[in-house]
Amino acid sequence: MAALKLGVLGSGKGSNFRAIADAITRGSLDAEVGIVISDVPDAGILSLARERGIRAEFVPPGKFKSKLEPSAEQRVVELLNEAGAEWVVLAGWMRMIKAPLLDAFPRRIINIHPSLLPAFPGLEAWKLALAAGATTTGCTVHYVDAGMDTGEVIAQAETPVQPDDTPESLHARIQAEEHKLYPAVLASLARIHTSRR
Ligand code: GAR
Repeated sequence: MAALKLGVLGSGKGSNFRAIADAITRGSLDAEVGIVISDVPDAGILSLARERGIRAEFVPPGKFKSKLEPSAEQRVVELLNEAGAEWVVLAGWMRMIKAPLLDAFPRRIINIHPSLLPAFPGLEAWKLALAAGATTTGCTVHYVDAGMDTGEVIAQAETPVQPDDTPESLHARIQAEEHKLYPAVLASLARIHTSRR
């Protein structure tokens, strides 16, 4: 049995999910993805999950932009429980997490964010770093709490900003780091989890 039973939430193309799934396939991450859930019906992350034979579910988000409607978040909790998920991995999830999920998975929800937190929380953080004239940015894996990108930091990786960077080129280099950092952090959590059994 895999050390970590994961449920993955994402709103976008799913390259972080792919990096995690590839690490599992390679055997460098002792985990299993039980379900992938999206708030966007045609999100790439859902197709990537289906291609791998992993259950993929769209949950209609409701009327809010920055969070799920409480009933939708409750549905996400039910789906995660049904799939046997013990950890919730946010991989490009673009909404705040509220009480239903936080209470169901205390200190078991982690996120990857494209900046060196606490610098540049929020959406499109690489654009914020570029606009602020930062010379170094990067990515952060952190526990999720009720704030926006405020939870305890687990690990970070730096990416230098080049003088000729565009938002796209900078985000691409940050993503290359994300794809190494996220599976590595999950692998360390898996080792800790296994040794505690
Ligand atoms: C990633 O860069 C991730 O750090 C960012 O969205 C991108 C998703 O890419 N997340 C956030 O900004 C969360 N606030 P992906 O769908 O290819 O993994």
